Amino acid sequence: MLHTNLSVNEHGHLTLGGMDTVELAQKYSTPLYLIDENRVREKMKTYIDAMGKYFPLGSMPLFASKSLCFKKIYTVASEMGMGIDLVSPGELYTARAAGFDLANAYFHGNNKTDADIELAINSGLGYFVADNREELDAINRIAGEKGIKQKILMRLTPGIDPHTHAAITTGKVDSKFGTAIETGQAIELVKYVLTLENIELEGFHCHIGSQCFEIKPFCDAADIMIMFMALVRDELGKATTTLNIGGGFGVRYTEDDPHIDIEKSIELIAEHIEKTCVRFEYTLPRVLMEPGRSIVADAGVTLYTAGSTKTITGYKSYVSIDGGMTDNPRYALYQSKYTILNASYADKEADFTATIGGRCCESGDLIAEDVKIKKPKRGDTLAVLVTGAYNYSMASNYNRIPRPALVMIKDGVDTLAVRRETYEDLIRNDL
Ligand code: LLP
Repeated sequence: MLHTNLSVNEHGHLTLGGMDTVELAQKYSTPLYLIDENRVREKMKTYIDAMGKYFPLGSMPLFASKSLCFKKIYTVASEMGMGIDLVSPGELYTARAAGFDLANAYFHGNNKTDADIELAINSGLGYFVADNREELDAINRIAGEKGIKQKILMRLTPGIDPHTHAAITTGKVDSKFGTAIETGQAIELVKYVLTLENIELEGFHCHIGSQCFEIKPFCDAADIMIMFMALVRDELGKATTTLNIGGGFGVRYTEDDPHIDIEKSIELIAEHIEKTCVRFEYTLPRVLMEPGRSIVADAGVTLYTAGSTKTITGYKSYVSIDGGMTDNPRYALYQSKYTILNASYADKEADFTATIGGRCCESGDLIAEDVKIKKPKRGDTLAVLVTGAYNYSMASNYNRIPRPALVMIKDGVDTLAVRRETYEDLIRNDL
């Protein structure tokens, strides 16, 4: 199977974390998000251990909330000793409601409103990752009103192209995020930040992109960032101590995708950073990373019930499912490839080529095109693998379709973590 937490049991059913997915589909109905909690914990531990081993004291991974956000995930992150990255007041609110200590939270985003900044400071936020000058002024003003000195990192664009899908590239010079080093604007902005009384600049952040399999772009970005930190030290007399290199490690969605060894990659990046620091005579900074996808993606499976199957003579066959772009918009948005199984007959040969269509009134509402699957009959459970990241968090109510439930599974026990939306939920705010 694609990942070690997937298997087939004696009934020929797909299992995730040892649990029968067809039984779970019957118990909770479909569409249904499943998250294998042990897998999430394993991945968090891999990051924590490797970063602790290869990077200086104080280094840590921050779970990228945008990849999967609901209360229980913050309980898991907190128990494991992860920090978190937040990009919106809604994520912050969710983490806070889960009792996560926001001292280990880093608040991103290219447009934090005054209300967002105020909410974050009132909630005891550790760090803002500040995007631009106007925002820095607002943080400085609001921190002053509250009588605190607010710690920040500054988001910079190192000008690296990580060779991934253009929509998920963020570190290039021409980006809506951060300030460019190459244009000279970043050093000017640092000069300005150092004049702000209520802000403590602790370091810098960059994120090159997502679903990256090569280590070189991370090393190249780190080089540019360290070179910049040395410039800040030499020209402005400020030696900052934190380097956040963002998230972005890729995951295996299909057999065609490579596998990334997280520990080895961290070791190689750490070695590289050490060399660069020696070159610039820079004291090794503590390093932060912001993995999202590589922590939760392969913990997730989405279950659907097959509806009608139809073949358009001379063209192709469509299998309809009871979900689609509302619970997984990634094919519609990025043509992302997925592995799809007939979970009811996971031991049978995939004998049928089909395009899997969702239930929205939109012809682009597809989950995959021309994939091989054991031909489903109406009522079979279909499983889309590796859906833990950017599926639930990107779900919508288009066509007034309620969002699915999310169930965590751990050591043979299934626990409802997010209940299924009801039709009543859909009209809750309608007046
Ligand atoms: N840090 C920052 C500043 C980011 O912008 C991102 C992702 C991450 C961390 C986490 O990256 P990861 O480790 O998950 O690759 N919706 C798209 C992905 C957008 C990612 C945006 N930023 C998708 O479904 O592929």
